[in-house]
Amino acid sequence: MSQLDAAWAALHAAAERARVRRIADLFALEPDRLARLTLDAAGLELDLSKQPWSLPDLEEALDLAAAAGVEAARDRLFAGEVVNRSEGRPALHPALRAPPGADFKAAGAPVSAEVDATRAAMRAFADQVRSGALTGATGKPFRAIVHIGIGGSDLGPRLIWEALRPLQPQIELRFAANVDPAELAQALTGLDPAETLVVTVSKTFTTQETLTNAETARAWLRAKLGQGADRHLVAVSAAPDRAQAFGVPAGQVFAFWDWVGGRYSLWSAVGLSCAVALGFEAFERLLAGAHAMDRHFVEAPLAANAPVLLALAHVFNRNGLQRPIRAVVPYAQRLRLFAPFLQQLEMESNGKRVDAEGRPVAHATAASVFGDAGTNGQHAFFQLLHQGSDIVPVDIVAVRQASEGDPAAQTKLLANAVAQAEALLVGRSEAEVRAELQARGLPPAEIDALTPQRTFPGNRPTSFLLIDRLDPERLGALIALYEHKTFVEGVLWGINSFDQWGVELGKTLATRVLAELEGGPAGDHDPSTAALIARLR
Ligand code: F6P
Repeated sequence: MSQLDAAWAALHAAAERARVRRIADLFALEPDRLARLTLDAAGLELDLSKQPWSLPDLEEALDLAAAAGVEAARDRLFAGEVVNRSEGRPALHPALRAPPGADFKAAGAPVSAEVDATRAAMRAFADQVRSGALTGATGKPFRAIVHIGIGGSDLGPRLIWEALRPLQPQIELRFAANVDPAELAQALTGLDPAETLVVTVSKTFTTQETLTNAETARAWLRAKLGQGADRHLVAVSAAPDRAQAFGVPAGQVFAFWDWVGGRYSLWSAVGLSCAVALGFEAFERLLAGAHAMDRHFVEAPLAANAPVLLALAHVFNRNGLQRPIRAVVPYAQRLRLFAPFLQQLEMESNGKRVDAEGRPVAHATAASVFGDAGTNGQHAFFQLLHQGSDIVPVDIVAVRQASEGDPAAQTKLLANAVAQAEALLVGRSEAEVRAELQARGLPPAEIDALTPQRTFPGNRPTSFLLIDRLDPERLGALIALYEHKTFVEGVLWGINSFDQWGVELGKTLATRVLAELEGGPAGDHDPSTAALIARLR
């Protein structure tokens, strides 16, 4: 048995022991549990003590990380080696948030000077737009940006804007991702083309949804501004030639590179819309926060490394305890898009059935992720979290200081975050329920009937991430924490976290079906698909 197989076997054995004990009991048995499982990383406090592992189990999990070569893989990532082998590319997002003058190399070629130059161009553009030095075709300053992009070219910027937007922004930022015409129609409604920039973001500049929306938005600009409309077009792409061919003036095309994965790209010019709408200083602070997490990931020993421990906690649940679903609940309305962001980050990165060598995976890979802001989620899916027949581990993110609004309401929000984690942990035993119902004087038959309904099994794991305030630095650190956690999981599972071949088949078939819906000859389909096409034609 290889060292890696032995480490996996030990993790599974540890999880079987964990299955039959209560997490809450571990605190008495392990006096240093809380201290050992609480860590500070780049301004975030992570508490993994409500996870099912004991401290000896944690050692088994750390042995797995060592046997899987997490440190060496991390070093290869940061060295710009070709870690995305099926696409022949590095995945060098840390280079995008390093301070100016860094020395990153992608597959041996220096990249930091280009990164710095693009950042300088972004800053100049953001400053010109915000100061009014750059105006639209009619001489009016820009008051709105419509950001068009999908997947990695959308979710990160959308999350950042929602998290950090001022209550009354100088520049309004709207998003359109879906090819459903409703989304762009809503994004454009009420905006004046003369005051609006359309920023099209597409790594490939071939994505059907994005190009369709970009054409519609360009037509909307041209209807009012004629050829002057081009002044309002901005593009961000790793294929700048295609963006120029589309009609975006060369000076308004911002490049990024094929060594930046789409879902890891918000740190590049993909974040331009946010850099303009929030101001460049906020964008730089976001990068600084992510960089601080990079430093932590590189420098902290495995046993005190937040991305590594979070990944191991998730793997303990996913693989050791066969829990295929995880919930993410930020107790911060401004982070309500964190779950959709993580869905792409984790499920597109690690939703893989073959390993990096093309062999069937030896271990189950990414869990399905879902979630919504607390407390809203408590009135929707928490019933299942507390009493459902499956155990769904939960990541809770709480923000100590409110960004705005009533401080008393913020205290209630925090109380709920803490109480939910406690309730999931301790539950409510049958005896407690009976005692309470007896104290209320209910008749014995009613007590018998109600007790099973009102009992909470507890012993349901949470990770608790506490953030002082939702500022750009901490947001950057939070996102980078989950990026690296996702990478570590990919290393443990032996998969390539940086490709996404699984999205290709649907794209190809959609092109075929579209031709048929537009009147082309009927293709060869299964009877159900053929009937649907016939009905829609
Ligand atoms: O959803 C598939 C995907 O390839 C994502 O990985 C990517 O972020 C998205 O499409 C958008 O791609 P592009 O930036 O090339 O338009």
